[in-house]
Amino acid sequence: MIEINNLTVQFGGVKPINELTVTLKSGISGLIGPNGAGKTTLLNVLSGFVTPTQGSVSVNGRKLTGLAPHKRALFGLRRTFQTDQIADDLTLWENVEAIADHAGFIDKDMANHAVEQAIAYVGLRKRIHRKGSNLSTQERHLAEIAKALIGKPELVMLDEPGAGMSESETKHLEDVIRGIPAYCGAQVFLIDHDVELIAACCDETMVLDFGKLLALGPTHEVLQNPEVQKAYLGSFEELGVHA
Ligand SMILES: Nc1ncnc2c1ncn2[C@@H]1O[C@H](COP(=O)(O)OP(=O)(O)OP(=O)(O)O)[C@@H](O)[C@H]1O
Ligand SMILES: [Mg+2]
Repeated sequence: MIEINNLTVQFGGVKPINELTVTLKSGISGLIGPNGAGKTTLLNVLSGFVTPTQGSVSVNGRKLTGLAPHKRALFGLRRTFQTDQIADDLTLWENVEAIADHAGFIDKDMANHAVEQAIAYVGLRKRIHRKGSNLSTQERHLAEIAKALIGKPELVMLDEPGAGMSESETKHLEDVIRGIPAYCGAQVFLIDHDVELIAACCDETMVLDFGKLLALGPTHEVLQNPEVQKAYLGSFEELGVHA
C-alpha cells in the first residue's frame, strides 16, 4: 500500500506536486496525466531521488521520507526509468546480474537463479547473452522490468514501460505486468500514456493534473470521468479508446 500525505515538490517557481494526498491499495495501481503533470516527479519522491518540500510517503506502513534511494531498495522498492538504464556494452545477463550483486543474496547460486528466473519471466531467455546495444526498444523495457524483479520487491514502479512499442509488443508487456503480483508478491505502480495498457492492467487508477489529484478510483470509472476526458482532450479518440 502506498500512502502519500500532503506532498508538495517545488522546483523554483514550479510545483510539479501540489499538496497531494492519496492512498493506493490495489495489486496494480495506475497513474496517468498529461505531459508535465508530475507523474515522474511523484515516482522520484517515492524512490528517493527527489526530496519533497513538505509531506510524507509510506509504503506498506513504512515511512520513507528522508531515506536514501539505496536504503529504499533494501526495503523492496524497485523502479524503472522513463529513459531505460540498460548498459549497451554489457549482455542482458550482466545487466540484470549487476542488480543481483547488490540485492543481499547469501550466495552466488541463489543470485544466479534469481537472474535466470527474472529474465525468463519477462520472456527474454533467448536474448540472455545479447549485448544491451543489440536489444530492441521492447526488449530493453522488458530487461528494465527484469532488473526490478530481483531480490524481494514489495513495490515495483514502472515509468512508461510501453513507450515506443507496437500493439503486439504491448500485449506481451501487458501479460508481464499483470503477472508481477503473482510472480513476486509486489504491488505495481504503473505510469503510462497508453490508457489501453492502464485499463488492461490496473484495478485502480489515479489521475494527476498540474500536480493535483484529478481523480482516483476503479480504472473504468476514472476513464469515463468527464474531468479526466477534458484533461486528455482528443487523446482518447486519437488512441481509439472509447472509455
Ligand atoms: N529537476 C527538475 N527541475 C526543474 N523542473 C523540473 C524537474 N523535474 C521536473 N520538472 C518540471 O516538473 C514538471 C513535472 O515534470 P514530470 O517529469 O514529473 O512530468 P510527467 O508527468 O512525468 O511528464 P511526461 O508525461 O512528459 O513524462 C514539469 O513542468 C517539469 O518541467
Ligand atoms: Mg514522466
